[in-house]
Amino acid sequence: LILDGKSISLPVIEGTENEKAFDIGKLRDQTGYVTLDSGYKNTGATKSAITFLDGEEGILRYRGYPIEQLAERSNFLEVAYLLIYGSLPTQTELDNFAHQITTHTLVHEDVRKIFDGFPSAAHPMGILSSLICSLTAFYPKSLDPNQSPEETNLNIIRLIAKISTIAAWSYKNSVGHPLNYPRNDLDYCSNFLYMMFAFPTEKYEINPVVVSALNKLLILHADHEQNCSTSTVRLVGSANASLYGSVSAGVNALWGPLHGGANQEVMEMLEAIQQDGGNTQKWVDKAKDKNDSFRLMGFGHRVYKNFDPRAKIIKKAADDVLKALGIDDPLLKIAQELEQAALTDPYFVERKLYPNVDFYSGIIYRAIGIPTEMFTVLFAMGRLPGWIAQWKEMRENKEPIGRPRQIYTGELERDYVGI
Ligand code: MLT
Repeated sequence: LILDGKSISLPVIEGTENEKAFDIGKLRDQTGYVTLDSGYKNTGATKSAITFLDGEEGILRYRGYPIEQLAERSNFLEVAYLLIYGSLPTQTELDNFAHQITTHTLVHEDVRKIFDGFPSAAHPMGILSSLICSLTAFYPKSLDPNQSPEETNLNIIRLIAKISTIAAWSYKNSVGHPLNYPRNDLDYCSNFLYMMFAFPTEKYEINPVVVSALNKLLILHADHEQNCSTSTVRLVGSANASLYGSVSAGVNALWGPLHGGANQEVMEMLEAIQQDGGNTQKWVDKAKDKNDSFRLMGFGHRVYKNFDPRAKIIKKAADDVLKALGIDDPLLKIAQELEQAALTDPYFVERKLYPNVDFYSGIIYRAIGIPTEMFTVLFAMGRLPGWIAQWKEMRENKEPIGRPRQIYTGELERDYVGI
C-alpha cells in the first residue's frame, strides 16, 4: 500500500471476524490510516484545512480563528469570505465581496414560474434543493468541469446571493403571501429579514438586535467539518458535478431529521413539556429512566464530549433577543430549567450531556417569527459557505472521485439452480 508516497506493508489477516477486527484495529493504530469504518462514515477519510474541531476540549475554529471571536466581532459575509478564500478580508475586499453578492440577489423571472408550480404545502427544503439545482439550467456554464476560476467564483457569488431570495420566497410561498424582491440597499441579513417578513400593507422595521442574532446564528452554523451534508457535497462534487448540483445534494442530506432537524425536535419537545403542565423534573426523570424511550432533544453531541462551544454563544444571543423584543417565552423558562438539570444532575454530568447548539437556536428563530419548518432552511443558509469552501478545496486539491470502501457481508458464492 502506498500512502502519502510511503510504501507500507500490510499483513494478511486471518482468523474469525472478531480476531480480524481486533488485528485490523491494531493495524489502524499503527498506521493511523486504515480503518474498518465504511467509507465516508469515517471523518478521518478527508484531509481539510478549513475547520478545526476538538470534541474533547470543545474547540471549534474556522481557518484557525476561534468561533467565539468570529461570532462576537465579524458578520456572516466576512466569515463566508474567510471560509471560502482562506483568510479574513480587508475592508476593501469585504466591501467588494458584499457588493458583488448584492448585485446577484435577484433570481431569473422564470424562477418565479417554478415557484408557482409548487403546492403551498411544499416543504421549503424541497423548494430550496430543487431551485438550487435548477440554477444549473439558468447558468449552464456551471456544469463545465473545466470552467475558469473566475467562472467558478461567479457561481459561488450567485449562490450565496440567491439562496436568501429563494429561502425567503419558499416561506412566502408556504403562507401564500406576495413575494418581496430583494432590497439591495440592505446588508445580507437585513435583506433576508425584509424579504421574509415585509408585507405590502404594513410598515416593516429592521431590528438591529435581530440582525446581530441572525448573523451569529449563520456564523455558528457556517461549517462543522466532515458531517453528513458536507461529506455529501464533497462526494457529489468529486464526480465533477456542478457547485449547484453538489450543494443541492447537501441540502437534501441536511433535510434528514437526524442531521438538520434537531432544533425542530427541541421545540416540539419543549412544547410537549409545556402542554403537559411544564413540570421539567418529570421529563428529566423520564430521560433518566432506562425503561422509558424518551430522550432529551438538544443534549450531547456525537463529537463534543464537552460543552458545544456554539451553544455558549447562542445561549447569550437567545437571552439578548428575548430581552430586546420583550418576549417572555414560557418555552425559554422550560429550556432554562432543563439546562440547569443538565449542568447539575450527576446523571447528565457523568454522561457529559450538555445542551448543544440546537437546544437554543430554535428559541431565537421562534422569537424572531421564523416558523419551525424554516429552521433547517436557515441552517442551510448558514452552512452554505462551509459547503462551498469544502467543494472548492476538494476541487483545487484535484481529489479523485470518491468511492466509499465497502466491506462485503453477503453470501460468497451461490449456484443458480432455477425454480
Ligand atoms: C453540524 O453542525 O453539522 C452538526 O452538529 C452535525 C455534525 O457536525 O455532525
